[in-house]
Amino acid sequence: MALRGTALSPPPVWFMRQAGRYLPEYRALRARAGGFMDLCLDPRKAAEATLQPIRRYAMDGAILFADILIVPYGLGVDVGFREGEGPALPPLHPGERLPDFAPDVFARRTAPVMETVRTVAAALPASTTLIGFAGAPWTVATYMVEGGSSREFSATKRWAYGAPDSFQVLIDRLVEATVAYLCAQVVAGAEAVQLFDSWAGVLPEEAFRRWSVAPARAIVAALKARHPGVPVIGFPRGAGAGIAEYAAATGVDAISLDTSVPLAWARHAMSELVLQGNLDPQWLVVGGDGLDAEVARIRDAMRGRPFVFNLGHGIVPETPPENVARAIAVLRRGNG
Ligand code: CP3
Repeated sequence: MALRGTALSPPPVWFMRQAGRYLPEYRALRARAGGFMDLCLDPRKAAEATLQPIRRYAMDGAILFADILIVPYGLGVDVGFREGEGPALPPLHPGERLPDFAPDVFARRTAPVMETVRTVAAALPASTTLIGFAGAPWTVATYMVEGGSSREFSATKRWAYGAPDSFQVLIDRLVEATVAYLCAQVVAGAEAVQLFDSWAGVLPEEAFRRWSVAPARAIVAALKARHPGVPVIGFPRGAGAGIAEYAAATGVDAISLDTSVPLAWARHAMSELVLQGNLDPQWLVVGGDGLDAEVARIRDAMRGRPFVFNLGHGIVPETPPENVARAIAVLRRGNG
């Protein structure tokens, strides 16, 4: 309801990375799964990981347990995760043959994720919204080009700036695959979807328009053509003032605010959209009265307008689980 534009008090709440290593039951499941991709591609275990935080905290939204790198995996890329180091992919160089988007191959390789969605949809209470997701093309491309995580994104930027026509081919392919992936999640039972552009904030404005805003607009348009009623949440992390242009130009229903976005400004600059955010995940590590005050500040700043309480980025592994319960209790208590 909140994602369709109704102001609710208290606001609904879910957290990015609400499933994950801060939960002992996730670590136990993870230890039994083998590799991280094996966990993402095992529907029973991935459904279990999705449901773990819901059982503990009864969040209003359950985010599908998977990863943004399932899309390159679906395109046939060899995606691995190294313990403690993060993702490892064969780096893609300009001029090399790009992975093809073959709809039937892609659907077969990503079918386990759709089975996870169906399993979770059948298990969730009707009042809990099942949220699907995908990485945005720019962010996914950075992992494909750099071969994993990056600090400077130098290879990806040099390709995008130096040979934009061939980089566009990669982005267009990711747009096509992402549309197919998100539509399949909706058909399987996802009730809303979020597009994670975690590295949108490293692009200068013209590049941000071309590689973050334009692909998001294309994805939203294609998704809405097939599934008009499904709310889309955009998360152009770190985009600064560019977030307002993203909100106006992409057709998303809701905007997830990163930790740095001032709330009074967001209310004014994006008055037509549902807002989501933006507690600093480090507050969930620190806890105490400071956490309570910060939860109350965000809730009060968004009072009376459509809002979904969330973080400004994902939960970190050092988070004491009891602080998550505390934040939700404070949020739900203070609805006067
Ligand atoms: O939010 C959720 O609870 C749902 C599941 C989810 C995961 N990743 C599980 C995960 C979601 C929505 C993501 C999105 C994701 N994945 C993003 C976008 C959001 C963001 O954080 O900016 C990105 C950039 C990735 C890529 C990725 N996945 C990296 C860089 C890493 C390694 C860093 C790390 O935290 O370990 C991952 C691994 C990952 N994805 C884990 C989880 C629970 C930890 C791996 C493990 O359990 O061993």
